[in-house]
Amino acid sequence: MTKVAVLVGSLRKESYTKKIAAALMQLFPEDVETEFVEIGDLPLYNQDYDDQNEVPEAYRTFREKMKQMDAVLFATPEYNRSVPSVLKNAIDVGSRPYGESVYDGKPAAVVSVSPGAISGFGANHHLRQSLVFLNMPTLQQPEAYIGNVINLLGENGEVTNESTLEFFQLIVNSFVELIHKYQ
Ligand code: FNR
Repeated sequence: MTKVAVLVGSLRKESYTKKIAAALMQLFPEDVETEFVEIGDLPLYNQDYDDQNEVPEAYRTFREKMKQMDAVLFATPEYNRSVPSVLKNAIDVGSRPYGESVYDGKPAAVVSVSPGAISGFGANHHLRQSLVFLNMPTLQQPEAYIGNVINLLGENGEVTNESTLEFFQLIVNSFVELIHKYQ
């Protein structure tokens, strides 16, 4: 079974980004398991925790969970044209201690979500910059900029528009193909 971690850069209960991630998760084939991994309980990264062996329990849990994953789907809103700090923090926490990154070599996909028309482009590409350093082979095409998101979500937060779902399926299929290349 292939395991994909889904990291969402919003802690908001009614997060549009989380709803889009949930819609994508339903489109994976049966032999790929997807799971939201909690990042909201991670204390802000402080290298002293690792250097002085006072690692917070939430770091241990997160790192252990992420080590079991084969790939990572990043779904992020855009904050001030960049990556929300909660997601950057999860990247930093998982990347350390040095030499023990939970991300190293794992295929990734980036989906940015926004109520606006620019579709989180800034967040999407700032995130990609970190993924280069983390040595994560990242899905290049199709690029996934989900703008005007409010128009895509129905009353219950589901995506029903046929052409949107077709596009989502293309994203998922392309990502699964990438993952299999690295297995
Ligand atoms: C935003 N928002 C926002 N939107 C955008 O498209 N580009 C941006 O740079 C920003 N900047 C920004 C900063 C901060 C601090 C907040 C709280 C919000 C609006 C943002 O897209 C909107 O709040 C979304 O609803 C956030 O995504 P979730 O929580 O719905 O997933």
